[in-house]
Amino acid sequence: MGEGPEIVSTVAALRARLAATRKAGLRIGLVPTMGALHEGHLSLVRQTKARCGLTVVSIFVNPAQFGPNEDFARYPRTFESDCAKLASLADVVFAPSAAEMYPNGFATRIEVAGPALGLESDFRPHFFSGVATVVARLLIAAMPDEATFGEKDYQQLLVIRRLVADLDLPIEITVGETLREPDGLALSSRNAYLSQEERKIASRLNVVLREVATKVQRGEPITPTEAWGRDALLRAGFASVDYVAVRDAETLAPIESLTRPARVLAAARIGDTRLIDNIAI
Ligand code: PAF
Repeated sequence: MGEGPEIVSTVAALRARLAATRKAGLRIGLVPTMGALHEGHLSLVRQTKARCGLTVVSIFVNPAQFGPNEDFARYPRTFESDCAKLASLADVVFAPSAAEMYPNGFATRIEVAGPALGLESDFRPHFFSGVATVVARLLIAAMPDEATFGEKDYQQLLVIRRLVADLDLPIEITVGETLREPDGLALSSRNAYLSQEERKIASRLNVVLREVATKVQRGEPITPTEAWGRDALLRAGFASVDYVAVRDAETLAPIESLTRPARVLAAARIGDTRLIDNIAI
């Protein structure tokens, strides 16, 4: 095991560090995260490391993507143990302060339409513009050859692909599949909020998504199946369901039947915790 990743906290220092790597002709990979790293993140980092000569992990809990009543203040911050987990995986950890990312006078926000419309945006209207702004900032700071995002945040992944295409950033967006607990619960930093009782209920999210997918594959009509999925989650003990939606996998547009690859996506709340998940159909 090495000494652990080099920790860099300013854009200027990151650029200086990466300039040498670029000059040496090494491929640079970036894995943007908000920390509280779990195996899902680490698998993204491992994939990046396998493809790249230098792996950068950014750790920044981005205030711009949280709404006023959301969990910014209580979002888990575990910087020391994150760095320990990255010890033999990442070369550089970029951990800027909020003032570094959003210095005094910062007045720019990136708006994304297309795949950002609907679903998460109906419930978290500020979310994708906050994500797009910070991801653009991180990508422009690091200018990696590739950046890796998890399929767990499927709508976010499509939004970032759109952003990178529209701004013509010469960066390959690579994807890591969702890692799950043995009972199907997708790994997420927010699982740490769940009580034992809530954790049992949470596992039903993926089960219901799989049942919805099976019904749609069997030819059952989409809208009643989505309604069935919402009821099934409420019956399982979720306090409320933001959406269960079957959408075109590429555009996230609503579909009437299964003629192209589709995705079933859901967001639901248990107590104060909001969980999301999605699977391919
Ligand atoms: O998926 C996340 O952890 C965040 O939304 C991201 C992409 C790091 C931007 O803050």
